[in-house]
Amino acid sequence: KPVVLSGCQPSGELTIGNYLGALRQWVNMQDDHNCYYSIVDLHAITVRQDPKALHKACLDGLALYLACGVDPEKSTIFVQSHVPAHSQLSWILNCYTQMGELNRMTQYKDKSQKSEANMNSGLFTYPVLMAADILLYNANRVPVGDDQKQHLELARDVATRFNNLYGDIFTIPDPYIPEHGARVMSLQEPTKKMSKSDANPKNFIGLLEDPKKITKKIKSAKTDSDEQARIYFDIEEKPGVSNLLSLLSCATGESIEALVPQYEDKMYGHLKGDVAEAVVGMLTPIQQRYHEYREDAAFLNKVMAQGAEKASERADKIVAQVYDAVGFIKRP
Ligand code: TYM
Repeated sequence: KPVVLSGCQPSGELTIGNYLGALRQWVNMQDDHNCYYSIVDLHAITVRQDPKALHKACLDGLALYLACGVDPEKSTIFVQSHVPAHSQLSWILNCYTQMGELNRMTQYKDKSQKSEANMNSGLFTYPVLMAADILLYNANRVPVGDDQKQHLELARDVATRFNNLYGDIFTIPDPYIPEHGARVMSLQEPTKKMSKSDANPKNFIGLLEDPKKITKKIKSAKTDSDEQARIYFDIEEKPGVSNLLSLLSCATGESIEALVPQYEDKMYGHLKGDVAEAVVGMLTPIQQRYHEYREDAAFLNKVMAQGAEKASERADKIVAQVYDAVGFIKRP
């Protein structure tokens, strides 16, 4: 079976963007892939986190993976900091990544413009840690949203460079980006990506949000002002309406082409009502299961312990190969 690896940062409540861009694919890939899914806490501390909040967000994240349908019987679910190989390989790969390559990463450029106060070097080398995450498992496919494409290209470049020097150690991973839902946009500013760390909570929908709040947020989403307030799909001209149509399509499974004619002479309010209903319908069962898992600390611990063990077993082998390749002496 092809190997899959992916992860979400526990840096806030996961959003419908994370679900539609990534988690939903994770679930679908479980039967015909050997899947590794991580809660990437090492990544989360590139931005200052309150320790208690981070601790909680990791457990929330784990319970949410399970609630969304990631199954510990089928997939390996683990917390990144439980597997030291991630830090180990990340250091080595740092020594094979050029400053110029990292300088070109658009996510880094965006973040450094926003928060000059904490430009730590972890934020800069973050894509290298992500490359290590993927390469440690010889992953063939990496299911992510559109925003992670560039990071994945870097992982491929670094792996290829390393292989050219030392032989075929790493598998070159391919991105696996869904056709729909790969880029869920912010509700109030539909030309930018929906993000869990957005300062304005009206911009995103958390997977655990109260249905009334979700409905309110969708009903007050920014729509596009043109003369006739028509409903059609055009990301450039109608980013707000297009985002709502995408959400509706993702939540109902109906194609956008099939949906648009249904709104031919309807108003924006009508569309918003339908989107809210569909999104709430999609999230309600996830929320119910989440609460059951979140309260079962013994089960969560078991999943984490098993996951860490399985992940370490595979990852440690690659670290040993890499250490040997670069010339480190085997510990006697
Ligand atoms: P993160 O935590 O920002 O997001 C987790 C996943 O959700 C996707 N995503 C979205 N998809 C569609 N629309 C959106 N608005 C949206 N927002 C987020 C992301 O593309 C991602 O797939 N660096 C990664 C985490 C990571 C990782 C990895 C992923 C660390 N190591 C190894 C894959 C493989 C990140 O910050 O994702």
